[in-house]
Amino acid sequence: MIISIVSQKGGVGKSTVAINLVLAMAGLPGKPDVALVDADEQRSCLDTLAGHERGNLTLYAAPDKPHKTIEKLKHRVIVVDTPPHSHEVAYQAAAMSDLVIVPCQPSPLDVRAMATTVKALEVIREKFNPGLQCRFLVNRITPRTTLANEISETLERIYPTVPVLETVLHDRQAYKQSLLSGLSVIEYDKRSPAAQEIGQLLLEINATMKVETIK
Ligand SMILES: Nc1ncnc2c1ncn2[C@@H]1O[C@H](COP(=O)(O)OP(=O)(O)OP(=O)(O)O)[C@@H](O)[C@H]1O
Ligand SMILES: [Mg+2]
Repeated sequence: MIISIVSQKGGVGKSTVAINLVLAMAGLPGKPDVALVDADEQRSCLDTLAGHERGNLTLYAAPDKPHKTIEKLKHRVIVVDTPPHSHEVAYQAAAMSDLVIVPCQPSPLDVRAMATTVKALEVIREKFNPGLQCRFLVNRITPRTTLANEISETLERIYPTVPVLETVLHDRQAYKQSLLSGLSVIEYDKRSPAAQEIGQLLLEINATMKVETIK
């Protein structure tokens, strides 16, 4: 299964989600063979995980033509982090993917800014990858607010072709703190609220894709 994290908007949490997702999958029972392809020349994922390698996780740098790298890989799960503001690289990754996750921050301005990403994903689905599943992931909700529902409803109304994941990620220090040590939020503190929401994200992806890979 190939999952790309895509958004033309910068700073929405693509790399944070990519790292936490792939590390959570790497830590599942049976230790599946997973890969993280960093298609961003900023190398956020590669530099964050440098020196924190795991046996069943392989890291690849593919800032140019990531599809050429991805098509050669045989891992059970491949997570691709993509750059902002680069149509070509992000969409080359999306064209190869089973699932694209589009993180979106909870502000009307950010919701509006999703238009270019959604349009491009619709074109990719129509022309190159008819089986592609796309989902919004609302990220950085302030804990104890009701904003998540309102943002999800707005996204669903404006972009009916991209469903919104039920799981939302809140704005939590743990997402920053854990990465200082090259750890996922689950590895950092498996009882934390952040760990629980990443666990829930995994379950929802599993249900969405109906794969036996991530039991
Ligand atoms: N749920 C969260 N809680 C707290 N901080 C977060 C959360 N998600 C992301 N951040 C922080 O937001 C900033 C941007 O996140 P990140 O680098 O993952 O975004 P990005 O979309 O990959 O950015 P770019 O477009 O530049 O690649 C980082 O400082 C990160 O620690
Ligand atoms: Mg990034």
